[in-house]
Amino acid sequence: MKKVWLIFLLIFDLAAQNLLAFDVKVENLKTEMRVNPLAVEARNPRLSWEITGEQRGIVQTHYQIIVSSSPGKLKEDIGDVWNSGKVYSDKSVNVLFKGSNLKERETCYWKVKVWTPIGESKWSEPAFWSVGLRYQNSWTGRWIGFERAFPWDEEAVFSKLSARYFRREFEVKKEVLSAKAYIVGLGLYELFFNGEKIGTQELAPTPTDFLKNVKYNVFDVTGEIQPGKNAIGTILGNGKFYSCRKYKFYKIKDFGYPKMLFQLEIDYADGTKDFVVSDETWKGTADGPIRSNNEYDGEEYDARKEMPGWNNVGFDEKSWLAAEVVDGPPGDIEAQMNKNMSVMTTVKPVSITHLTPEKFVLDMGQNMVGWIRFKVRGKRGEQISLKFAEIVNDKNEIATDNLRDAKSTDVYTLKGEGTEEWNPTFVYHGFRYVEVTGYPGKPDLTNFIGEVVYNNVENSGTFESSNLLLNQIFKNAWWGINGNYKGVPVDCPQRNEREPWLGDRAIGCYGESFLFGNENLYAKWLDDIRLSQKKDGSICDVAPAYWKYYSDNMTWPGTFLMVADMLYTQFGYERGIVENYAAMKKWLEYMKERYMNNDFIVTKDSYGDWCEPPVTIEEGMGKTANVKYPSTLIATAYYYYFMQLMQKFTLISGQVEDMEVHEELAQKIKKGFNEHFFNSRSSFYGENKLTENLLPLYFGMVPGSHEQKVFNTIVEIIEKENDGHLSTGMIGVQWLMRTLTENGRADLAYQLATNTTYPSWGYMIENGATAIWELWNGNSAAPDMNSYNHVMMLGDLLIWYYENLAGIKSGSEAPGFKQIIMKPEIIDGLDFVNASYRSNYGLIKSSWEKTNNKFRWKVEIPANTSAIVYIPGNSVAAVTEGGLPLNNSDIFKFIKLDKNRVVYRIGSGTYDFVSGF
Ligand code: BGC
Repeated sequence: MKKVWLIFLLIFDLAAQNLLAFDVKVENLKTEMRVNPLAVEARNPRLSWEITGEQRGIVQTHYQIIVSSSPGKLKEDIGDVWNSGKVYSDKSVNVLFKGSNLKERETCYWKVKVWTPIGESKWSEPAFWSVGLRYQNSWTGRWIGFERAFPWDEEAVFSKLSARYFRREFEVKKEVLSAKAYIVGLGLYELFFNGEKIGTQELAPTPTDFLKNVKYNVFDVTGEIQPGKNAIGTILGNGKFYSCRKYKFYKIKDFGYPKMLFQLEIDYADGTKDFVVSDETWKGTADGPIRSNNEYDGEEYDARKEMPGWNNVGFDEKSWLAAEVVDGPPGDIEAQMNKNMSVMTTVKPVSITHLTPEKFVLDMGQNMVGWIRFKVRGKRGEQISLKFAEIVNDKNEIATDNLRDAKSTDVYTLKGEGTEEWNPTFVYHGFRYVEVTGYPGKPDLTNFIGEVVYNNVENSGTFESSNLLLNQIFKNAWWGINGNYKGVPVDCPQRNEREPWLGDRAIGCYGESFLFGNENLYAKWLDDIRLSQKKDGSICDVAPAYWKYYSDNMTWPGTFLMVADMLYTQFGYERGIVENYAAMKKWLEYMKERYMNNDFIVTKDSYGDWCEPPVTIEEGMGKTANVKYPSTLIATAYYYYFMQLMQKFTLISGQVEDMEVHEELAQKIKKGFNEHFFNSRSSFYGENKLTENLLPLYFGMVPGSHEQKVFNTIVEIIEKENDGHLSTGMIGVQWLMRTLTENGRADLAYQLATNTTYPSWGYMIENGATAIWELWNGNSAAPDMNSYNHVMMLGDLLIWYYENLAGIKSGSEAPGFKQIIMKPEIIDGLDFVNASYRSNYGLIKSSWEKTNNKFRWKVEIPANTSAIVYIPGNSVAAVTEGGLPLNNSDIFKFIKLDKNRVVYRIGSGTYDFVSGF
């Protein structure tokens, strides 16, 4: 009887498990954070997956990964490339492939299943990755181009260089199994097969320091190849490769004329293989319709010069030249792991204002980055020019002084054949207004559309609150950030810079990561920063170092460490720290050797608290912000902060033997810093500026007994001296909101965030900003340093939105949101927040609402993570979840009572808390 009972129990248990198991799924498989990438650079790629399921508290206890050489083998569970076996681990993000050496070009098919305490998942749907071309000699083609300008080009201070077109036909006589096209098109390329554009990328590839490394893109073109004759066409533009400014050679790098390396690999069904590669058999011309393309000045396109069919089979190429074999760039050729730009969204113009019969101004209603695509009918030879601007004057004319010498103008010459439709190919503009001249006929709003072009990063966050201004700032930030993702994060998209300045993104990248899935973008930027390092250790203020600014300071190059830290905290990306630790250490040693004195003060800085707000808007009237006020206080405080980061990095990178050295130096700096800069009688630092007090307090440099007093000083500056306003430039603003909040004054942070008077984010919006201004006094300053789309002044504002208002923060116990800290601030005047963030584990949600002393908080936690939730309320009894009193279990565990918060550790799932507070 007993036996029967046991068997029954066993069957029941198995059935129950299977029932539950059905619910746990493994989805969203990524290799190196890409879905099915066609060329992976890493030898041991990182594999990640998301686990989903309705139940609460889903954690992975084991996983198994099978990697096979074919889909068929994968289906049969034959892990001939790698079978991890059942691994006891809760890691589901960045699991290293540990199979044996992969061969280049090999495609690996993989799937994963997981075990959880409530059952096991089924095998995931299959995913794959392909190994890229690994060796320089895997490229059998030659670099081709034209190492010269053509008679219609102009090589002067403001150069104009036409696009170069190349073509080649080839024949396919056998059944094609698969075909891949690899291309390095510098500076920018477009690729066509049989007349069709391949891919949705724009302004590709991602820019690099082309002397150090170049990136190739790869496409599966199996479906594009037809039996018999085929044609490949490419167009090359300038991008950052051919410098369109021939001045300040000491500063601006020029890499020469556009060139490309191409390789098509066709695998036939009979097991043979063909290559079609770039070489002297290709034909080329620079006499096509793109007469000039120039990042700052715009594109000129003459539709009369179009060459119908040039990228298709059978084109008469007699007038074309033989492609010239040229020297390739000297550095490595690598697979591009970050995504290219694409047209990500569109904007319809809101109005047309006629200035003269042939001139009108389009208002897009939004400062945006990309271009205008338009339709037109007219006579052959008629010319339309579009001049882009961020602002208009009081006569509604565009104002372009702030573009400096960037002409930002596209010119289109009609061919006069029916409706013509056009947008530029190799340039982008930052604008809200467009002055259109020479448009034939009556323009209609529907003839113009703004195409917004930025790196293809997903929107990872949403944020909405009861405060409309906060919501508007969030929107402005969203526009500002995407507008400045141009392959690398740049300072601004409109004037003659558009450079990847390091300082602008120091803490900014962290805030941005809540809005955009920027992991691969910044992981690649870390490489650029490392590659900008000189032999002696100095790191450029701009990376890739298109502008050779090796000014040696802590705050711009230090972004190297801060980006690595962000990637670790937000995404659990360790490699950024492990692979760059040595370079970071070298830079820090270099700065120490050169600039640290015997009192441990760093004596060198470049930019100070860059773009501090003038005290009043009137005082800032007409003033240029281009004046630097170096600060040894800032430099020394940052050195100390970086010593803290390095201590954390030693643990992550396994360089523990350095720990003591960093620790010791940090102590010495702290001592020197306080002796030198601290006024202990009055509890302030330096000249008692806001930033000077914020840094030591946030970095933990203030002697313990003085912490509260220094904080009081900070509050006094804001409340009394500044009449409730900030007075930070782009250094101080990076620590402002968190310092206030962490020291118990979230209300004051809220006041700063919702101010509409100068200086504030709200002031920008009151004065017409639709992105974020470069300067707090952007509406009164001299135009030379006055961009209306710069994101550096966001500081830590977005971090504060998520970590402190929504209460979504990655915990320090397990990075990348494996552990989540949820602690929304309760602030008078803020009645609800509704936010979500898509982490590498899945969606995190926090929606709270305050009504009549009741706090209702809905929370969603993804599987395989846990959260520490700080529920407002002063006793467990004051809180309910799902209408019931709080219980205590493994996935719902009481931790402590903490200053009017009931603190629980919860597992994955959705929760609905209600409490009185
Ligand atoms: C850029 C800034 C940059 C700064 C440093 C400016 O011209 O636009 O964003 O960080 O220069 O000097």
